[in-house]
Amino acid sequence: SPPLRLGIAGLGTVGTGVVRIVRQKAELLARRAGRPITISAVSARTRDRDRGVSLSGYAWEDDPVALARRDDVDVFVELMGGSDGPAKAATEAAIAAGKDVVTANKAMLAHHGQALALAAEEAGCVIRFEAAVAGGIPVVKALTEGLAANEITRVMGVMNGTCNYILTRMETTGQGYNALFEEADKLGFLEADPNLDVGGIDAGHKLALLASIAFGCRVDFDGVTLEGIQDITLDDIRHAADMGYRIKLLGVAQMTGRGLEQRMSPCLVPAQSPLGQLEGGTNMVVLEGDQVEQIVLRGPGAGMGPTASAVMGDVLDIARGARISTFGQPAGRLGNCTRAGTATP
Ligand code: HSE
Repeated sequence: SPPLRLGIAGLGTVGTGVVRIVRQKAELLARRAGRPITISAVSARTRDRDRGVSLSGYAWEDDPVALARRDDVDVFVELMGGSDGPAKAATEAAIAAGKDVVTANKAMLAHHGQALALAAEEAGCVIRFEAAVAGGIPVVKALTEGLAANEITRVMGVMNGTCNYILTRMETTGQGYNALFEEADKLGFLEADPNLDVGGIDAGHKLALLASIAFGCRVDFDGVTLEGIQDITLDDIRHAADMGYRIKLLGVAQMTGRGLEQRMSPCLVPAQSPLGQLEGGTNMVVLEGDQVEQIVLRGPGAGMGPTASAVMGDVLDIARGARISTFGQPAGRLGNCTRAGTATP
């Protein structure tokens, strides 16, 4: 079969990880996809930076929109980040040119996922974004494939590794929030705008995407009640521990009689529960369905290997002929769900 040719926009941690997998695992990928997976062209803000991986053999484009439109690109892999701006422009250009899209861009999808998925359907292409939610954990595939016959009743989870790292370190080191924010910054964990992490916004983006997939509603990020971890004190942590609890930035999305409830906020969780045993930068997602009761998934929610793994899972699906977007159903059929918080009885 002919190769599936990628165009990769964005060569930060995730983009570099994708190039690395394509180069180092060519044989495995070709075997599993039934055809070779190749890279035609790449683009990034900075060209001459040592990324520890060779870019030889790939065309270079300064403009991601030009990359998205290239004739030798079958799948546009968007790993630039940012909810608007170049990432969105290039994704739209790719769709307009009839290319399938794989992206890890949770912010863009939380704000424009519905519109992008609709545009993709009209153009006869697909948009997939397993990597946008909980990094290396294949939670979207669990929902849309393995659990597709379930009525999903609730989705919960710790979906921002940075916040979980800071909260865990507050417990183990006895240092306050500010010192550990600095530590997370030095370790390079924070998003370009750190308020996205500690304000709960990044985790809220992921929750809104999961809720849309789980309940068949349009992505409603504005409907997420948000609270970050900035005001958590060591006293809060100690009092929680005294009672056998830990504080986690927990997201909950559930369908209630009044409509869809979505909140992301610091919560007390029993220390002995699965969520209460989650350490450091790890993520956990709990899925509840009428047939399976509860499924708990735990794993790395960020980082080069795990996030690139999720991106490549989507690429392989496309190489094997998958024609459905990550929403698991036509975007046009996603309903406008009532917000539990604003519903009138
Ligand atoms: N800043 C995010 C986190 C990266 O800490 O989880 C992965 O989306």
